This record gives sequence, C-alpha cells and structure tokens, in this order.
Amino acid sequence: MSPITERTRQFCARFNLRVPILLAPMAGACPPSLSVAVANAGGLGACGALLMKPEEIAAWGNEVRTGTNGAFQLNLWIPDPPPRRDPAHEARVRAFLGQWGPPVAPEAADATPPDFAAQCEALLAVGPPIVSSIMGLYPPDFVAKLKARGIAWFANISTAAEARAAEAAGADVIVAQGMEAGGHRGCFDEAEAERELVGLFALLPAVVDAVKLPVVATGGIADGRGVAAALMLGASAAQIGTGFLRCPEAKLHPAHAAALATTAPEDTMLSRGFSGRAGRTIATAYARAASAPDAPRPAPYPVQRALTAAMRSAALKEGDVRRMQAWAGQSAALARDEPAAELVARIWRDAQGLMG
Ligand SMILES: Cc1cc2nc3c(=O)[nH]c(=O)nc-3n(C[C@H](O)[C@H](O)[C@H](O)COP(=O)(O)O)c2cc1C
Repeated sequence: MSPITERTRQFCARFNLRVPILLAPMAGACPPSLSVAVANAGGLGACGALLMKPEEIAAWGNEVRTGTNGAFQLNLWIPDPPPRRDPAHEARVRAFLGQWGPPVAPEAADATPPDFAAQCEALLAVGPPIVSSIMGLYPPDFVAKLKARGIAWFANISTAAEARAAEAAGADVIVAQGMEAGGHRGCFDEAEAERELVGLFALLPAVVDAVKLPVVATGGIADGRGVAAALMLGASAAQIGTGFLRCPEAKLHPAHAAALATTAPEDTMLSRGFSGRAGRTIATAYARAASAPDAPRPAPYPVQRALTAAMRSAALKEGDVRRMQAWAGQSAALARDEPAAELVARIWRDAQGLMG
C-alpha cells in the first residue's frame, strides 16, 4: 500500500469516514441538510457555531443525528479580548455604511456574539466525535473536558508556528488553512492576517514537517486535483468549504451561489469590511470600496460585524451581491451546482484516478 493510501486509510478509520473529504465549518452557511448529505456520502459533516445560541447548537446536532449515523464536527472561534471602542471613528464607519445600506444607529455597534462559555457547554452536551477551533486555541480546562469525553480536537492554523502551539496544547489533528481559503482567516494574532499570507503549497509541507499529528489541508481545494495534491504534500484528508456552497443542500442565497461560478482566483480579495477581521470574499463593489484609501478603516471585530448587519441583510433581501457578505475561496469557480453526495463521490473518484 502506498504511504498516501495508508495515511488516508488510518485517518478515515480513526474518524469513522469512508472518504477523506471534510466539509469545512462555515458559520452562517452550514445547514444540517449539507452535513447530512456529506456524512451520508462518507465524509465529515460540520457546523460553524460561532453565531449560534446554545439551543440552536443543540437543535443542529439533533437534526443531523436524525438524518445520518455519519460523523460530524462542531466549530467555534476562540474569542479575542473585547475591542477598544472609538465612538468618533464608529460614526465615520456608520456614515460610510449609510451609503451602502440603511442608516446605521449608534447603538447598532453594541451587538455582541453569543457567550463563548455557554457555547462550549452546548458543544459538550451535543457530544460530537470532533470539535474544532479557529482564531486561537481552546483553554486548557475545555481541552481537558474534550479529552475526558473522548472528543477529538481539530485545531485550525495558518502558520507552522501556530501548528506547533496547537500540538503543544493537546490538539489531535491540525487543519492547515492556506491563504486561498474562503471566509475568515484563522490567524491567532488577528493583526497579522494580511502579512502571514501563506499559500497551501508552502504551508502544508512546512506544517507536516513541524508536527507529528495528522494534518488536514484546507483552502482553495475544490476538485480531485486539489485533493490529490494535498494528499501528495502530506495531508491525511482535505477540507472543502467554498466548493460545497453551490450544492442545493447548502441553501446559499442564489445570487451568491451564481456569483461563485464566475469568480476567477483573482476576483477574490481579503477584506475586513464585513466583520473587522480579515476574510476572503468576492471582490464586490462594497468590498473594494471598504478597502479603498478614502474609506474609514473598518472598526474592530465584532463592532464592524454589528455595524454592517443592516447592509448585509438588505443585500440578502434584495439579492444584491454587490454588498452581500459573499465569502469565496480562490477556487470558487470550481464549485458546481450538484448534490453534495455526488460532489464528494466525484472529487474522491477523480483524486484516486490521479494518484493511480
Ligand atoms: C462562508 C464561509 C464561512 C466560514 N466560517 C467559518 C467558521 O465559522 N469557522 C471556521 O473555522 N472556518 C470558517 N470558514 C473557513 C473554512 O472553514 C475553510 O477554512 C475554508 O472554507 C477553506 O477554503 P475554501 O473555501 O477555499 O475551501 C468559513 C468559510 C466560508 C467560505
């Protein structure tokens, strides 16, 4: 058996998968239907629970378990300390956003994400086989609780140094996120997100050499070629986000889904304009304008997210992709409008064909 086949076989056996393809956790874009389809096809389902209240996390877990006996993971962001507020600057951001959506009231900035500790308890109550992290590392007491329950911890990282830190903190699997990835970059130090732009081809071998743990590759993988390349570079499995977003089970806004089909790699960009943290989006009119030199710099996370809520929901209502939070990885155009189970089967078949 080739070393690649042996590595992926071991990974699949350990995590009850038939195929080494993982749905990426995607906050706001991971309805149970998508995880059920992926898990039933032998891959790993996933929930980005960042914006979900404990009862919503519980309901997600119940619905997925009703639809599949397959494996799934729940994911949280590790929170930063509360941001420094600057009312005068927020007023400039609000005025700017008023040109793109409804007027934004000063108190809109005060909305905060759900309580992290309560979300952690909700994760434990669901008891998935895997819990994952992004933007940092879980605190030791939570890691101990995961281990006591036999829940594996997948830690998303975007540098070799972060991979080493995750291994030292007790992670079971490293998820190496290349800068091609759609959505937020997982840099532990949010200020470094635009400087530490490591592509997956450089990141994977560096991380595989830096740690002993199995490594999952993510960022810009959306077909059999990408999966085969990731496995060749030392990954044990491939995680796909944007590539699943055009599947009917993803229930993405049709305007966003249609725009992905025509998004070339160079048509995406990193922007802090939606949330205050850097994320890869289609280079829409709003994303470009928010990054222009004459625009006010975005407020810190989560203030910017709260300030843009009205614009984002108006854009969804009106189907206006120009100001939608249209996250997209650099391989967006490879995403196909096909059932998720067929996508998993096609990509794995193609990857195996290439690896011989
Ligand atoms: C719409 C969207 C939402 C995302 N939300 C999360 C999240 O909540 N947690 C997380 O760890 N990663 C999140 N990500 C990043 C993905 O987990 C993954 O790193 C990325 O999708 C991989 O790149 P790809 O989109 O090119 O496949 C998100 C990505 C997208 C596209």
